[in-house]
Amino acid sequence: MLRLFPLIFVAGIASAINLNVSATGGNASSPLMYGLMFEDINHSGDGGIYAELIQNRAFQGSTEYPSTLEPWVPTGGAFFTLQNTSIPLSKALPTSISVAPSSNSTNGTIGLLNPGWWGIEVKPQKYTGSFWVLGAYKGKFTVSLQSDLADDVFASLDLPSKSESGKWVEHKFELEPSVAAPNSNNTFILEFDASAGALNFNLISLFPPTYNDRPNGNRPDLMDALKDLNPSFFRIPGGNNIEGDSYHYPWRWNETLGPLAERPGRPGTWGYENTDGLGLVEYLNWCTDLSITPVLAVWAGMYLGDEADHILTAAELAPWVDDTLDELEFILGPSSSTFGALRTSLGYREPWDLKYVEIGNEDNLYDNGASTYASYRFSMFYDAISAVYPELNIVSSAGDYSAVGGSGTNNPSSTDFHIYTRPDYFVTQFGKFDNASREHKTLVGEYACVQGNLDEVVGVDWDLPRVPWPTWVGAVSEAVWSLGIERNGDAVLGMSYAPGFQNLDSYEWAPDLISFTADPSQTVLSTSHYVINLLSNNRYNATVPVVSDSDFGPAYWVAGVSEPGSYTFKTAIYNATEAVPFSVSFEGVDEGAKGTLSVLSAPDGLSNNALEDGVVVDVVKKDVKELVAGVGGSFEFELGNYNVAVLTT
Ligand SMILES: *[C@@H]1O[C@H](CO)[C@@H](O)[C@H](O)[C@H]1NC(C)=O
Ligand SMILES: *[C@@H]1O[C@H](CO)[C@@H](O)[C@H](O)[C@H]1NC(C)=O
Ligand SMILES: *[C@@H]1O[C@H](CO)[C@@H](O)[C@H](O)[C@H]1NC(C)=O
Ligand SMILES: *[C@@H]1O[C@H](CO)[C@@H](O)[C@H](O)[C@H]1NC(C)=O
Ligand SMILES: *[C@@H]1O[C@H](CO)[C@@H](O)[C@H](O)[C@H]1NC(C)=O
Ligand SMILES: *[C@@H]1O[C@H](CO)[C@@H](O)[C@H](O)[C@H]1NC(C)=O
Ligand SMILES: *[C@@H]1O[C@H](CO)[C@@H](O)[C@H](O)[C@H]1NC(C)=O
Ligand SMILES: *[C@@H]1O[C@H](CO)[C@@H](O)[C@H](O)[C@H]1NC(C)=O
Ligand SMILES: *[C@@H]1O[C@H](CO)[C@@H](O)[C@H](O)[C@H]1NC(C)=O
Ligand SMILES: *[C@@H]1O[C@H](CO)[C@@H](O)[C@H](O)[C@H]1NC(C)=O
Ligand SMILES: *[C@@H]1O[C@H](CO)[C@@H](O)[C@H](O)[C@H]1NC(C)=O
Repeated sequence: MLRLFPLIFVAGIASAINLNVSATGGNASSPLMYGLMFEDINHSGDGGIYAELIQNRAFQGSTEYPSTLEPWVPTGGAFFTLQNTSIPLSKALPTSISVAPSSNSTNGTIGLLNPGWWGIEVKPQKYTGSFWVLGAYKGKFTVSLQSDLADDVFASLDLPSKSESGKWVEHKFELEPSVAAPNSNNTFILEFDASAGALNFNLISLFPPTYNDRPNGNRPDLMDALKDLNPSFFRIPGGNNIEGDSYHYPWRWNETLGPLAERPGRPGTWGYENTDGLGLVEYLNWCTDLSITPVLAVWAGMYLGDEADHILTAAELAPWVDDTLDELEFILGPSSSTFGALRTSLGYREPWDLKYVEIGNEDNLYDNGASTYASYRFSMFYDAISAVYPELNIVSSAGDYSAVGGSGTNNPSSTDFHIYTRPDYFVTQFGKFDNASREHKTLVGEYACVQGNLDEVVGVDWDLPRVPWPTWVGAVSEAVWSLGIERNGDAVLGMSYAPGFQNLDSYEWAPDLISFTADPSQTVLSTSHYVINLLSNNRYNATVPVVSDSDFGPAYWVAGVSEPGSYTFKTAIYNATEAVPFSVSFEGVDEGAKGTLSVLSAPDGLSNNALEDGVVVDVVKKDVKELVAGVGGSFEFELGNYNVAVLTT
């Protein structure tokens, strides 16, 4: 039976591509295959998926980014100063805000207002808050969620002060608005009686409900957007995020643990101080909540920057190798071990399920990065880790085979290859892994189509602008690339689009997989998200051979099987000038058998999903049709240019 689809780019109809799919004879497919790449790139973590609503909640600072009062606003004529009081809240959080009445204060209340991370979503739900106070005060505090644009107060609560002189005292509260605010232009306000004089505040926190109700957890809507992708792995805690720049502040796992008051924070890689509220345990819980495998990245002695001292010598690196063993003991060790006991003390008796450790991030970045990584940095980690944890899969970050370990043993290292390019170039890379090592596997830890096509097929030019949003032609080229990877599921561990998130109110990098604001109704799932969603939700255990009377291009495909008779055929059409008819037969599938064909399309290659004037524009269309196998058991259907399709039987 022939099913016709509306075609977008049709000049005629070519003769059919005939494909015979065998039942056996292929290769096992990596169970990881589709995964996640995320890091706190301009407020994707703090201000993003990490659900804390208060911006600059604890006045964390460093040499690189000194503590600031931004974006706090005084109310009632209050006067703010940052202070390192003689009694700090904690060693980690020495700096607090002093809120004092000024000559401008009327005799009512004074306080402090926080605009959130470019707004606060207010809904009828429970918000969990807390703050710490230093200074004697007998009155009450008032906490509220208010509109920034009108006089509306959505929730307000008085709580009696428990504060005392010479002591930091925590106050906890819950706010439950009875109605939703019309938009996210809302603020949080904390006030007290001006007659109290000056009080110091620190760690002022407010959380909405989180994913799986985790305390200190993640935004549910953004977690759902990740879960929709059916991911299998997650590289934590990111790529460049682990490195630190010329100020030499690499990510330190052991300073991201425990109560928030014990986390000093650190200067991140994207121009601001990170709270580290999203710490190692939170990343691991995130993996648990999405049932995905962590790929733990550890710093391998390369700072970002071109100074002479941005690579550690072997002697300087040795303590970091020890530190990695400590971190692995924290994650994997028995409760009787030093760091296993630390884990247990934090409430996690059972070890986490960790199988992959990546040594650094793009350590081939500089000339001396690549050479030192190949000569000593990778092997120091490989040797030390595999001696203690021979079952761990160790991944080099060089993206090639310049640094390998364990050849010929049962734990050969893998490598993490990254690519940012243009649509045409991606399509030419369909066969990239056909001859790749099956022993030293590849993780495609970052990929994205970031620029448009030129007259010639070339890769990215970092001196030119990138596209603001993933385009449809880019997403289709990523589909072709992904099918090439799936065909080599025995050589490739998996792939993850990067970056995962874009905070539309402060971003440094586009295009991104998921874009968001404080208002969940404005979340944009990119064209690339649609493609990954379709491909990742149609997994199979093993590839199977496909015999065809046509070469690849403009159609690219892969076929796989899970249970006998249960096939998955995936195809993407790139550069077709006319409709592409298919006739696909699966071994053992007879006339009358049913199949389901899902087809993604968009109005044209340059269209993209976006947020325009606060409204989500979604150009991707998904058509799902039931097909019935005709004579000889073949499924016949037709696709147009820039279609991405999956047929399952
Ligand atoms: C299985 O792997 C072999 C060896 O790498 C390769 O030649 C063959 O094309 C693969 N088969 C399928 C169906 O992917
Ligand atoms: C607090 O102490 C830190 C660390 O010594 C210092 O860098 C910072 O400037 C101090 N802040 C204030 C407000 O005194
Ligand atoms: C009082 O208000 C004036 C006008 O808004 C402002 O310029 C001044 O800085 C305020 N003084 C204090 C101590 O807050
Ligand atoms: C504050 O209260 C005192 C005493 O009642 C009064 O003298 C003063 O005028 C008040 N100030 C303002 C700004 O209202
Ligand atoms: C509401 O907040 C958003 C995000 O900060 C901002 O872009 C917008 O201008 C605000 N709207 C108004 C009317 O102030
Ligand atoms: C974290 O580990 C480093 C290296 O072992 C150590 O210097 C530092 O004091 C530790 N920090 C905490 C908070 O334990
Ligand atoms: C797609 O078509 C364009 C225009 O004919 C051509 O320049 C480009 O090389 C083609 N790309 C691929 C991957 O076939
Ligand atoms: C893989 O190897 C085959 C046989 O040597 C060769 O024909 C083909 O061009 C190679 N493919 C790639 C992508 O290098
Ligand atoms: C990234 O975030 C920092 C801190 O909020 C901000 O100063 C910087 O301008 C942001 N970068 C971009 C490109 O928006
Ligand atoms: C597919 O199999 C059928 C039946 O054996 C055969 O007639 C046909 O030629 C095959 N097609 C290709 C492309 O090999
Ligand atoms: C395919 O994988 C699933 C889930 O991993 C497993 O239950 C099933 O037995 C596998 N089927 C085959 C044919 O290997």
